[in-house]
Amino acid sequence: MNKNRSIAVVGAGLVGSGWALVFARAGYSVRAYDPSETVRAGILTWARDSLNDLVQAGLVDDDQLAILARISVHETLAEAVEGVFYVQESVFETVEAKTAVSLELDTAIGEGVLVGSSSSGIPASQFTEACKNRACFAIVHPVNPPHLVPVVEIVPAPWTEPSAVDRIAALMEEVGQVPVRLTQEINGFVLNRLQGVLLNEAWALYEDGIASLADIDATIAHGLGLRWSFMGPFETIDLNAPGGIEDYAARLRDLYASMVRTPPPEPWPDAVISRAAEERRAELPLADLSDRRAWRDARLSRLVAFKKNQGLMG
Ligand SMILES: NC(=O)c1ccc[n+]([C@@H]2O[C@H](COP(=O)([O-])OP(=O)(O)OC[C@H]3O[C@@H](n4cnc5c(N)ncnc54)[C@H](O)[C@@H]3O)[C@@H](O)[C@H]2O)c1
Repeated sequence: MNKNRSIAVVGAGLVGSGWALVFARAGYSVRAYDPSETVRAGILTWARDSLNDLVQAGLVDDDQLAILARISVHETLAEAVEGVFYVQESVFETVEAKTAVSLELDTAIGEGVLVGSSSSGIPASQFTEACKNRACFAIVHPVNPPHLVPVVEIVPAPWTEPSAVDRIAALMEEVGQVPVRLTQEINGFVLNRLQGVLLNEAWALYEDGIASLADIDATIAHGLGLRWSFMGPFETIDLNAPGGIEDYAARLRDLYASMVRTPPPEPWPDAVISRAAEERRAELPLADLSDRRAWRDARLSRLVAFKKNQGLMG
């Protein structure tokens, strides 16, 4: 356990605010910073409402007020990182924004302070090269919302110290996340590469009129997703043939090879995106998105509680 109990959250939008709750729930003091006054003003209200959900699902025993009291909101980045041993950066997903904030962090933090970027796909080598503390920077990619979905991908840049990766992985375990370590950078990391294959195929099936948007969603929500909520694709196929994974491969690998799309897909076409958006907005108006997000989080917290009760989660 770290003696220094102070962590900074830099960028406190959708993902950063979830991180604040992850660390505060685990007993750390969280110093949050976001340049947007609106975002800063909303952090504690969002955290209080989300904590209510966690309490109702039986996921926190600690005093809610004590957890909230551990989150402080700061008006400058320099103030937020004072005295911390770890910074979780969650600013916009562009090389420019990540570079600017990494350089600012680099001058504001002391030697040895670790920085994890929530980057969904931009590798750290694209924005930390000029940092003098670059050995302490790595990608720490969560899934949204991180206080309910525990996996984090830790991706080192070529210059990240292995000991920094070890310390970040230990911290993630301590706060209840599930660290997955990549040995090297790859575009999209593991999670979004897997999600990307599925999304590219979903768009193509929809574009070709093979199935409706709702039916494609139902295939995951009421099919593959049920098993995926507690086991991965390799364990799934190991159980899906009498002789396990080798038997599954012998029976079905030709089928899977025949489904690979060549040439690889183009970016999703504008016209297809517009058609899909029209269908989704008829189902869920834009004004209701944030209520539906809260609904999702409440369902997720109950699923997490169920997994914990079943011994499927730490
Ligand atoms: N939303 C997701 O599903 C998801 C999942 C995993 C990872 N991520 C990653 O997390 C990061 C943040 O995404 P988000 O969805 O929270 O976006 P968001 O737009 O909700 O939040 C980004 C926040 O960064 C703030 N910001 C901008 N410049 C800043 C700076 N210089 N210093 C501090 N704060 C700054 C903005 O004001 C904004 O509040 C991105 O890298 C994204 O790819 C997002």
